[in-house]
Amino acid sequence: MNERILELFQESPEAYVSGEEISRRLNVSRTAIWKHIEELRAAGYEFEAAPRKGYRLVSKPDKWQVTELLQGMRTKVLGQKVHIYGEVDSTQTIAHSLVASGAPEGTLVLAEAQTAGRGRMGRAWHSPAGKGIWMSLVLTPRVPVYFMPQLTLLSAVALCRSIQKVCRVDIGIKWPNDLLIKGKKVSGILLESSGEDERLKYVIAGIGISVNLKVDDYPEELRKVATSLAIESGTEIKRETLVQEFLLEFEELYALYLEEGFSPIRLLWEALSVTLKRPIRTYTPNGVIEGFADSLDDSGALTVITENGEKIKVYSGDIEL
Ligand code: BTN
Repeated sequence: MNERILELFQESPEAYVSGEEISRRLNVSRTAIWKHIEELRAAGYEFEAAPRKGYRLVSKPDKWQVTELLQGMRTKVLGQKVHIYGEVDSTQTIAHSLVASGAPEGTLVLAEAQTAGRGRMGRAWHSPAGKGIWMSLVLTPRVPVYFMPQLTLLSAVALCRSIQKVCRVDIGIKWPNDLLIKGKKVSGILLESSGEDERLKYVIAGIGISVNLKVDDYPEELRKVATSLAIESGTEIKRETLVQEFLLEFEELYALYLEEGFSPIRLLWEALSVTLKRPIRTYTPNGVIEGFADSLDDSGALTVITENGEKIKVYSGDIEL
């Protein structure tokens, strides 16, 4: 039925189509039409509704352009195998099962929409259709399990640098890996891993970038804390270009990391950080720590100096600036 409704709107693009006309031509009730329009909205179609005029199709969801994506890929390994889906629960779940069936390093899972996008600390990740980059990347670094935080920070650096290259926005990293523009979150990273004999067997780097969301695409409770690249740059961003740039940046930094260790990545992270050298409040699993965010150590932990001069290492938590 959703297909037939769309066909009807496509007969006269730009024009309003009344509920009465849809109901008559498709032989369905007005309540059913409303339900289908809501379904289409959830799938990324934008409709304007005007009293006495009906509905107007304002925009269709952006769809991944596979050929364009693959043609512009400048990497050797990352993204050389891409799996693209419409709606999934979470690209992380798909990537885990692809690894179980032998997917190699560099495999990329992309989805138009996620119904159960996962964020850090058990939170949900808002992933509406066609508006963002919701992707999971398979990595197989044979490094000790306790190096995971370093990979998280590396991902944040790659993401931040690629966004800087593609969009004109002033973006920075909040420890450990939130990307902020004017204090609002635009992108998040979630690394999930499996280990064997104290070494990482594989890592799934889950990346969410809010690319072309408009203010209305966010639920009320997110509007104060979240934003998108389009909102901040004032222009729509080509998702394919950003994925290509991110993978290239990631591949280069990853090679540097495997060769030289974390030190060069740490310097890059520090240069992009909006957290260091300022007072912060950290919510950790062991309680709240207030103090001055002094530095990042080689394991990726944040050193906080409290009012009484005590130095505390924070390994995981949420920061309030
Ligand atoms: C965070 O900041 O809390 C991390 C958000 C990570 C979201 C991405 S979207 C693609 C991948 N699939 C998921 O379910 N989560 C990650």
